[in-house]
Amino acid sequence: MKKINRRRFIETSVLATGGLVLAPSLVEMLDPNSVSAHANPPDPKSLSAYDARVRALLAQMTLEEKIGQMTQAEQDALKDVNDIQKFFLGSLLSGGSSDPKAGNSLAAWTDMYDGYQTHALKTRLAIPILYGADAVHGHNNVLGAVVFPHNIGLGCTRNPKLVESAGRITAEEVRATGINWTFAPCVTVPRDERWGRTYEGFGEAPELARSLGEAAVRGLQRNDLSNPLSVLACAKHFIGDGGTKIGTASFRNPQGKRLLDQGDTQVSEAELRAIHLQGYISTVRAGVGSIMPSYSSWNGVKVSGIKKLLTDMLKQELGFEGFLISDYKAVDQITRDYKEAIGISINAGMDMVMVPTEYERFFNLLRELVNEGKVPMARIDDAVTRILRVKLAMGLMDKNRSPLADRSLHKTFGSPEHRVVARECVRQSLVLLKNEKQTLPLSKKLAHIHVGGKSADNIGNQCGGWTIDWQGKTGEVTTGGTTILKAIQSAVSAATKVTFSQDGSGAAGAQAGIVVIGELPYAEGMGDRDDLTVSQEDLTAIDNLKQAGIPVVAVLLSGRPLIINEALSRCDAFVAAWLPGTEGQGVADVLFGDYKPTGKLSFSWPRSMAQIPINVGDQNYDPLFKYGFGLTFG
Ligand code: BGC
Ligand code: BGC
Repeated sequence: MKKINRRRFIETSVLATGGLVLAPSLVEMLDPNSVSAHANPPDPKSLSAYDARVRALLAQMTLEEKIGQMTQAEQDALKDVNDIQKFFLGSLLSGGSSDPKAGNSLAAWTDMYDGYQTHALKTRLAIPILYGADAVHGHNNVLGAVVFPHNIGLGCTRNPKLVESAGRITAEEVRATGINWTFAPCVTVPRDERWGRTYEGFGEAPELARSLGEAAVRGLQRNDLSNPLSVLACAKHFIGDGGTKIGTASFRNPQGKRLLDQGDTQVSEAELRAIHLQGYISTVRAGVGSIMPSYSSWNGVKVSGIKKLLTDMLKQELGFEGFLISDYKAVDQITRDYKEAIGISINAGMDMVMVPTEYERFFNLLRELVNEGKVPMARIDDAVTRILRVKLAMGLMDKNRSPLADRSLHKTFGSPEHRVVARECVRQSLVLLKNEKQTLPLSKKLAHIHVGGKSADNIGNQCGGWTIDWQGKTGEVTTGGTTILKAIQSAVSAATKVTFSQDGSGAAGAQAGIVVIGELPYAEGMGDRDDLTVSQEDLTAIDNLKQAGIPVVAVLLSGRPLIINEALSRCDAFVAAWLPGTEGQGVADVLFGDYKPTGKLSFSWPRSMAQIPINVGDQNYDPLFKYGFGLTFG
């Protein structure tokens, strides 16, 4: 760490920790000027370095054992746990909402993982499983985990070191449950805010996917897959998932409309490369061990079946040595006949298939395809080589190391130390859009602050989708963490009265109002929407606060820019807080000036629905706020 900045930094970090004393390594992680942990990150060892060991193992394997390695089943679809041995399953996953049967707790997740791994170790060759989960903003499926801001917010921090730190902490919490693989980072470049997965991306500009995607991989994998605190990362969804054309979605959204998700990306190869390939160039360089091909199509053909993309571009041109894992039932979408679809995908270069439910059928069909000569044995060997390389690189087969969970990590799971880093992410992700008459920062000594809005005391709305449940949940979705209301209450002086009403009424007599508004949780195509206008309920809450004749600060919780014109003009200050996660204190840090806003928009902010799609670099670019916009105060 550079000495000159240490003192200033420690002062800020103490603010953020509320007096908590941090381990020096954590302090260093948080320091925006720290160089030691990050400068010239060593290029991770190449995966093909393990090929001699892989060849020895491969030579002993039957076709069935090889196909098993290529099969990933959803744990809650296992008909019998002995199927792990019977089908030599190489991997299991917990998809969204796939909790342990014993319930959702740290202990139950760990026991579940250990139980399945123990079965894998009973197979003839005792090859451990990779267990995958969507730890996309912290270990978000597990109650009590620290939940980080979704990527859209991290994109506004423009801070690769911080994103790397978030990745390290996420990996440590994932490892606490034994799980060794996360389907993250998402390096999508969302080009249309109507897409329900906009928040999964770091921003609309490829440079963000490139720099922050790389940082996330370096954090999750710690630049060394063999480190017991690292997890296997997965860059997704290759390629063009964020570029689909409106009206081409594979499914209808809850309003019955076919919008964007899993649709068709109708662009030239040059555009595909310039916009959608960038996050893969950098994550492959950082040694990402797995990549997930997208549900979406490229010019009418499902990506999961395109050899030119999976094999030629990714493996040959970029030199990706890890393995490809298909998306959930994505192979099924390639063509109507499932067997034919499997053949197309494996021959295109898919290495492992997220089946996820009918694993026996998949196993049998792939075996038939090989026996009929429709999938060459060389392709199977290549796929299994790639999977085994990763398992070996992770030390999963080291004699002196157990692949079971290290329960000593339970100590730091969801710990205050981890929450400090998430809080830092929150405060750096906030973007100040308006600040009339220096409304912000608010004084902590005001006699009375009235708080309103449906999301002020709602940790579920703060966290958004992919939190405990696949779709997330409004209300008390998880344990631990701080709502924005609670954060305000703990930030102000003892003499300050903080009152709250969801609809913002009853503010008379207060000196200032804070209203927390925005979207309710959603994930994937369920969030595809063609009207992103701030709701009437939210406007009413603002109006009720304004009726008291006080300055009103709006905090918007959303997975994308919304159409905010009405809300913006009625408020004195306006903060875009995205989906900040469990650490609401990071929002209060900005509202009360403990942190001067530094966040810069990761998206262009549209004036109207008619302006969408709008992206930096467009002709006649005239958004409400430009990409990169963000105010601060003195
Ligand atoms: C699963 C998710 C998955 C989705 C795919 C859900 O039932 O829980 O993990 O992403 O289906 O459509
Ligand atoms: C999503 C992926 C996710 C997978 C597993 C799919 O529906 O598209 O992002 O990793 O499910 O849950």
